[in-house]
Amino acid sequence: MAMVVIEDVSELRRCLVPWRRSNRPIALVPTMGNLHAGHLALVREARRIADCTLVSIFVNPMQFGPDEDFGSYPRTLERDRELLETEGTDLLFAPSVQAIYPHGSQGRTRVEVPGLSDILCGTSRPGHFSGVATVVCKLFNMAQPDIAVFGEKDFQQLLVIRRMVEDLCLPVEVRGLATVREPDGLAMSSRNGYLSLQERARAPALYRALCRASDHLHKGLTADEVEAMGVEDLAAAGLRPDYFSVRRASDLQPATTGDQDLVVLTAAYLGAARLIDNLRVSR
Ligand code: PAF
Repeated sequence: MAMVVIEDVSELRRCLVPWRRSNRPIALVPTMGNLHAGHLALVREARRIADCTLVSIFVNPMQFGPDEDFGSYPRTLERDRELLETEGTDLLFAPSVQAIYPHGSQGRTRVEVPGLSDILCGTSRPGHFSGVATVVCKLFNMAQPDIAVFGEKDFQQLLVIRRMVEDLCLPVEVRGLATVREPDGLAMSSRNGYLSLQERARAPALYRALCRASDHLHKGLTADEVEAMGVEDLAAAGLRPDYFSVRRASDLQPATTGDQDLVVLTAAYLGAARLIDNLRVSR
């Protein structure tokens, strides 16, 4: 069946009625478009676990800071549409800013997930996770999916969304999917497109530093030691580290010696790009 492309909320609700009436599960894959293999893996997972695959493409102004790349964020709707059609997507929801924020976003209801949103990426991107939580909550309310699929590359975002779903009793099952990487280890990201050829060659240092951190944690080095070495590794490769941090995977609190399920998270600037990545470590 051909993919249906929808721009407004009432049309989205109308299109979802037959799926819901016949008790066929709906999986939502929220994206900002400029799709790559990482997104397509989410779409495949959605198709595997649900009858109806709904993908949203919306570059959400509320999650960008005033000095960030909202204006220049790559918008490639026609190519995305073709890729999604090839993947067997049932519905593509590609709303305008007006459809999502008919009254703007300033001074209107927003979703705050305290604690998880103020650390790591939240420190250098104040308001970012409130923007993410608000738009994801709106998408959940608009589409009322049974399942929503997100990439683990945005590990902090995934935890923020899980916490929001738990706290607001939203009837959605949130699934996280492993990061898809380039052959040299670089995590797939739309922002990789900002890198020059020379920067692209340096970018895998991020993943290498995470792998080294994992080895060091297994050898018994402390979180402080591992973090200091991670920052040095990134700087030595010509990246400007924002943070390199060893955290408890369940709630992103600083790891203590007894914690076994860890995640090492990092963000670094390289040219015009701010790259993020993470690696789970069990010890
Ligand atoms: O991860 C993203 O692409 C975005 O943050 C999301 C979840 C689609 C919300 O705008």
